[in-house]
Amino acid sequence: MAALSEHAIEEIRALPPRFPHIRSAVLPALDVAQDELGYLTREAMTEVAELLDLDPGYVEGVATFYTLLHLEPIGKHHFYVCTNLSCDLRGAYEICDHIKRRIGVEGFGEVSADGLFSLEEVECLGACEFAPMMRYQRRYHYDLTPEKVDALIEAARQNGGDRAADSPRDAAAASQKPPGRRASSRGPTKEDSAELNA
Ligand code: FES
Repeated sequence: MAALSEHAIEEIRALPPRFPHIRSAVLPALDVAQDELGYLTREAMTEVAELLDLDPGYVEGVATFYTLLHLEPIGKHHFYVCTNLSCDLRGAYEICDHIKRRIGVEGFGEVSADGLFSLEEVECLGACEFAPMMRYQRRYHYDLTPEKVDALIEAARQNGGDRAADSPRDAAAASQKPPGRRASSRGPTKEDSAELNA
């Protein structure tokens, strides 16, 4: 039985013509698979490899390299909080502790009892000017405060954990940054850089 739905398979099949090299399509293809399943199963990685006519070992190598790809189940809503220097100095670990308390987990990587949330600390996401910041549901969230985090958690609980309700695949249209500051030269990608709580 196929690991992926017909819709996901169609999305992946449409990717190769958009890239100069077939291997460049692996990352977005794995993203499609993860978006559908919540994490990358071995079957899903094999299916992606077959759809792109690539070696399964290569696809698995890509999947294990990137922290945004997960080989184990995570919460439907996953917090990627940057804890590198700028964010650390501006309270990233306090934000992490607050998230842990609010979702009821003890550590990074743990999934909340209701399956809705999990938390991960990540390396610099290229938006140091807006520290502390995180990636959450395909969007960047800047100048984090406990209140902003609480609003996100509450919204997720209210929509019953529906990923699609607050994580549009094409978030570019909503992309914006706090006014009056320069964007980082390595700033968020077009798809990743929308802020929910401006
Ligand atoms: S140190 Fe956090 S975004 Fe750069």
